[in-house]
Amino acid sequence: MVEIVPSILSADFARLADEIARVEAAGVTMLHLDVMDGHFVPNITIGPPVVKSVRKATRLTLDVHLMIENPDQHIPEFIDAGANQISVHQETCRHLDRTLRLIQSLGGRAGVVLNPATPVAALDCVLEVADYVLLMTVNPGFGGQEFIPYGVRKIRELDHRRQALGATLPIEIDGGVSLDNLAELVRAGANWIVTGSKIFHSGDPTATVAEMMRVAREATAVRV
Ligand code: DX5
Ligand code: ZN
Repeated sequence: MVEIVPSILSADFARLADEIARVEAAGVTMLHLDVMDGHFVPNITIGPPVVKSVRKATRLTLDVHLMIENPDQHIPEFIDAGANQISVHQETCRHLDRTLRLIQSLGGRAGVVLNPATPVAALDCVLEVADYVLLMTVNPGFGGQEFIPYGVRKIRELDHRRQALGATLPIEIDGGVSLDNLAELVRAGANWIVTGSKIFHSGDPTATVAEMMRVAREATAVRV
């Protein structure tokens, strides 16, 4: 199953409820929220109050991507605000296993994120703990960046590892996805495709998401 997951980072924050309604109209089930602290990444975005407002505006699954130092300190607030699932960077967690279990103990699904430069092997031990893995296909911090080509190799490698383990955990990818590379990424094994600027900077977000869903479905059908 492949899902297109709109990232609101590139939406108009003054009209967020309308922007969300546009992608909801195309039939998405999840919404991606990027939390940045200006330390782990060189940009600052939103915190729990915005997640809480988004929660009131939609029933979609809220997929919160924490790009912050000391995530443990803030995870309870994001769960209280209405996050359904929270992903943390392997690079920021001294006790990754503990952090994933903290999210789960609060009722959330726990994801682990890898920067482009972090090898898939760094996850070997936690693959049986995490509920999903997010592979960054740009360096985190900004929307609208170019896809880093070796990301495809990492998707394939993780897909092989999960098959070898008999695991079914979804592979999420984030950054630089467009209609041009989407099919290749789905064929490599990606299940949840985060995309922001290509949706919200298009003239018609509903139509763009619908087209992405069509391309992703077709690519799934040819996967061997
Ligand atoms: C980048 C964020 C992404 C971002 C993707 O650090 O994690 O979620 O919104 O944006 P695009 O699709 O424009 O690359
Ligand atoms: Zn993200």
